Amino acid sequence: MADISTIILAAGAGTRMKSEKSKVIHKLCGKSMIKWVYSQAEKINAKKIITVIGNKREQVIATLGEDKDYAVQEQQLGTGHAVSVALDSIVDGGIVLILCADVPLITSDTLQKAIDFHIKSRCAATVITVDVDDPTGYGRIIRGENGNVLGIVEEKDADDDQREIHEINAGLYCFDVALLRAAISNLKNDNAAGEYYLTDTLAILLENGYCVGAYKKDDACELMGINNLYQLSVAEKIMRTRINTQHMLSGVTIINPENTYIDADVTIGHDTVILPGTMIGEGCVIGSGCVIGPNSNLCSCTIGDDTEINSSTILESKIGNNTHVGPYAYVRPNCIIGDNIKVGDFVEVKNSTVGDGTKISHLTYVGDSDVGGNVNFGCGTVTVNYDSKKKHRTTIKDGAFIGCNTNLVAPVTVGKGAYTAAGSTITEDVPDNALAIARNRQVVKPDWRIKKYGK
Ligand code: UD1
Ligand code: CA
Repeated sequence: MADISTIILAAGAGTRMKSEKSKVIHKLCGKSMIKWVYSQAEKINAKKIITVIGNKREQVIATLGEDKDYAVQEQQLGTGHAVSVALDSIVDGGIVLILCADVPLITSDTLQKAIDFHIKSRCAATVITVDVDDPTGYGRIIRGENGNVLGIVEEKDADDDQREIHEINAGLYCFDVALLRAAISNLKNDNAAGEYYLTDTLAILLENGYCVGAYKKDDACELMGINNLYQLSVAEKIMRTRINTQHMLSGVTIINPENTYIDADVTIGHDTVILPGTMIGEGCVIGSGCVIGPNSNLCSCTIGDDTEINSSTILESKIGNNTHVGPYAYVRPNCIIGDNIKVGDFVEVKNSTVGDGTKISHLTYVGDSDVGGNVNFGCGTVTVNYDSKKKHRTTIKDGAFIGCNTNLVAPVTVGKGAYTAAGSTITEDVPDNALAIARNRQVVKPDWRIKKYGK
């Protein structure tokens, strides 16, 4: 079997995006376009994958990783020129698969089928094509009387009849490496864009008597090219449907997929229910039997089994099993919250650990704290972690009971099974099993109003 190398084109300026960012690092469902394409290319059994970079190349490298193979196209002289730069590090004798980083919905399944088709056809080149309702902006496939491919005409160069053609070039191809190299050396830039078009190599190969084929797909969804932010939003919707469908087929209930936003590379266990208005960011891991949402936002977090997250935001944190969060809780980065816990309404937790069985039911701030198991927080507890210069930690040991409206001025420790009286401002450590009262004793002045105001 022939060696396969892959080239991903990602050097273009992306002018139509009207963005300071490289086009190919714009994200679809939390993952950059270049990464989507690269991850599909990785599934093909290719010897190497070379990404052609140029414009805003540092952004592309930062996104994709320094450990990848790159070819630098110093000046963006067109797709044919971009391929020639990468061909310098590919040897003759095999097949090269050419992908565009701005065609992010492509799947490895389609690519593999196109490669198999190419090998079977013994052609010098195979282009992936599809019929679309609106071909605006794409290269049109020109076919002869027998349906054989004669070449590709770019929209800018097309005449009125050619513009009526609805079969488009998806920008994805298989070539014989040596024949492509020879054809590229004959490219000219005498076209409307003044560029060296990769698409012109097909006509050059045909002129030289080689066979050129088309692998035509039925469905246009995967082949959409992204040139502007509107097209990105259309592609995002397609990708979201694909992701949601996969989760549903693996046993996740999504009540309304239309307004459930799950990023790439999220794991969700079976029998978990996702309620509307929920956003789950790239890399989150959610167990089985959970109820997530409505209206929850989860970023980079791990959630155990049978846990409920209701109308809450969880960032870069870990939450255990059978724990209830919300409604309206805010778990900020670096929290480890255990099993059978309640983090209730209007509770904020930050950079803290919370042990199993603890209840933080309402209106409480727990920041920079190490909280043991089976602790009960009364309503309105505040860990006073910041002295205007430094953050300090609060330690609350197992089984402690924090009275309502307690301020815990850190650094401070509340011992095992200790109590704080409601309304206390605790500035000194409380020993195990003790009760700390840190407020004035109540004074009652009988008939005060009558003495002051009469009657
Ligand atoms: C290209 C095809 C068109 C096809 C469409 C599919 C050509 C001439 N046209 O048009 O037939 O229908 O894709 O989406 O190939 N790039 C470089 N270096 C360059 C120029 C471009 O690396 O000098 C990269 C871009 O980053 C992009 C890809 O090549 O990833 C395609 O370039 P783009 O300018 O978007 O081409 P289209 O006009 O979309
Ligand atoms: Ca494009």
